[in-house]
Parts: sequence; structure tokens; C-alpha cells
Amino acid sequence: MNDKNNFPDNLIEEIDAIKSKFPSDKSKSAIIESLLIIQHHNNGYLNEDLISSLADFLNVTKIDVYEVATFYSMFNLKPVGKNIISVCTNVSCMLRKSDDMVSYIEKKLKIKVGESTKDNKFYLKNEMECLAACNGAPMMQINHINYENLTYDKIDKILDEINND
Ligand code: FES
Repeated sequence: MNDKNNFPDNLIEEIDAIKSKFPSDKSKSAIIESLLIIQHHNNGYLNEDLISSLADFLNVTKIDVYEVATFYSMFNLKPVGKNIISVCTNVSCMLRKSDDMVSYIEKKLKIKVGESTKDNKFYLKNEMECLAACNGAPMMQINHINYENLTYDKIDKILDEINND
């Protein structure tokens, strides 16, 4: 059954609070924020049940929720590693060899873009558009923290520190 009872009580409260910020005929406006909360409570990813439940809860169509979940790169539609690595490959970063940085990370973690490591510690997300830190190119984000002016040595240090946490 896809109704609000698929969510734990604390999650219902949080989504209800988001929903209440908007007029009842504008529930679509609550989709992004609700999905972020749901994803956070579901080990960093969304699935079909959760998407259907949110659609029912907000009284919008399932496709309304899917459109948002598939459009924005911050949503994951499959289980992913705990630490999410996003390397910017837009122009400024590309000119400063971000592609080489991606290849280096792939080799170091023994995964390809879009994959997680076997121990589920890292997920190398699809390459990202400009992350608004061009003056620090090439750069990456890990769990929304920026790491700029990347070099191979710097990547080693950053990933090793996270790995040893
Ligand atoms: S191009 Fe990479 S942060 Fe802007």
C-alpha cells in the first residue's frame, strides 16, 4: 500500500511540516525538500516505493515526483556508497585536467564513474556540471564539502583520511 503509513512517524512529521508551508493546491512545491529528507533517512537513495508514497502523501502524481527525482543530480535512485564524490568536469575544471582527476580516482578506488566501492565507503557520482568554485579548479565535492586545486597527492590525502575515519 502506498500511503503515508509507509513512512516512519518522525518522517511523516518532517514531511508534513514541509507540506504545510505551501497552499494545498501547490503541494508540488514540497517535492524537492521532501525527497531530500526521505533520501537522507533511507541511506542516501530513493526507490519506487518511497517515490509512490510521497506522491500519495502530497496528493500529486507519481510522475510529478519522478520528474524531480530524475532531474536533479543530488538524488540517487539506487543504493550508493556512504561518501559521495562528485568531480566537476565543466569548462574551468576541464581546462585544468579534471578528466585526469576522474581517471585517477577511478583507478585508486577501482571503480568507474557511477559505481560504489565494494566496501560501500565511496560512490563516484556521474561527472558534475559547474559547482561554482571555478577559481579552485580542478575541484570535487565529497558529501557537499568542496576540495579545490586538486592534485593526485591531494586526492590521495583526502580519500585516505576519509577511508581511515
Ligand atoms: S567549472 Fe568546475 S567549479 Fe566551475
